[in-house]
Amino acid sequence: MKLILCKNYDEMSEKAAAEIACLVKKAPDCTLGLATGSTPVGTYKRLTNMYKSGELDFSGVKTFNLDEYYPISPENSQSYDFFMKKNLFDHINIKKENVNIPKGSANDPERECQRYEELVRSSDPVDIQILGIGVNGHIGFNEPGEYLHASTHVTELTESTISANARFFESEDEVPKKAITMGIGTILRAKKIILLASGRAKHAAISALLDDRITTDIPATILKTHGNVILICDEEAYYG
Ligand code: F6R
Repeated sequence: MKLILCKNYDEMSEKAAAEIACLVKKAPDCTLGLATGSTPVGTYKRLTNMYKSGELDFSGVKTFNLDEYYPISPENSQSYDFFMKKNLFDHINIKKENVNIPKGSANDPERECQRYEELVRSSDPVDIQILGIGVNGHIGFNEPGEYLHASTHVTELTESTISANARFFESEDEVPKKAITMGIGTILRAKKIILLASGRAKHAAISALLDDRITTDIPATILKTHGNVILICDEEAYYG
């Protein structure tokens, strides 16, 4: 795993945006794997600015998001569909038909998982997958547990994730209890993975990522089995 240690959140965002920009310029029809949450917001802002200044063209880019709450309507401002529009898609020239996010409004969530998994697997592999990391070490919504899932699945969010995500809602009670998420196998299929981490709260998870253990108690540690991972993290996440 390659480590890029940054002073702070801004530098982390700068480096991540530069990696993505480099790919989009080199391969205008590339596929990006995208995450939501507070961590990639600065990266998306920089990509938006690069598009606005004429430096980047997203017209040939395809995207797959990692996850979506379930059940949730895409119009709900807490949905990841809404988040992606607000923080990136509404500001760049990406084609609507090239954007893929699990459908949190699907009537049959199991079928939706199957549809999404098949879609990811039948498409060109993701060139760069952006990941954040939960305070409990989750990636996507692959939560700690006895075992991990290989494919896209419905997951029950843990107490730790519900309480960490409560900051985006009026109260903890409003945080959805379930989500649809790519599985570990779906994520590891990406050619390159960029994991972003900022802030002291992520220190324990990042420490586990940097030692030699692989454990389902800290799902991100499975990334040690992938040959092309870059960890871009700030000093608070790294040193605690
Ligand atoms: C979001 C996702 C999650 C977040 C993680 C960190 O699509 O898959 O794994 O990346 O919960 O969230 P933030 O960035 O809000 O700390």
